[in-house]
Amino acid sequence: MKEISINLNFEIRSVWVESSETLLDVLRDKLGVKSPKCGCERGDCGACTVLLDGKPVRSCLILAVEADKHDIITVEGLSADKLSALQEAFIQYNSFQCGFCAPGIILAVTELLQKNPHPSLLEIKESIAGHLCRCTGYTPIFDAILAISKGDK
Ligand code: FES
Ligand code: FES
Repeated sequence: MKEISINLNFEIRSVWVESSETLLDVLRDKLGVKSPKCGCERGDCGACTVLLDGKPVRSCLILAVEADKHDIITVEGLSADKLSALQEAFIQYNSFQCGFCAPGIILAVTELLQKNPHPSLLEIKESIAGHLCRCTGYTPIFDAILAISKGDK
């Protein structure tokens, strides 16, 4: 076991972990952060995405010890005071149904919008290419992100 320290959603959290534990398991089972979802555990679905030092990563593919002394943001950290404009747009455009994919997509697009506030549809599609959604057919997801891109929100 090793004690690691993570700046999780703007709060320093210390936790004891096994060297083999994934960041996803530690976030969900030891730190009580439930928005990253376990879909495939092999990097295919994007449901477990978090921001590691500002970049989207698959937390099922990262060992918790690799996150030691790094910054992690989950959806909980985006909406401490109120929902972000992107989250509001997802609600307005009915961009999720079961919601399983939504946290990962919102984090990936949050990073995209920080780099590029006005992405094209192609750039939006590329940014969430590795995120699987079984419910929506993606159109309402694209509509919400395009509304933000165009400044309609
Ligand atoms: S659970 Fe990590 S990519 Fe699917
Ligand atoms: S809303 Fe159900 S998987 Fe996307």
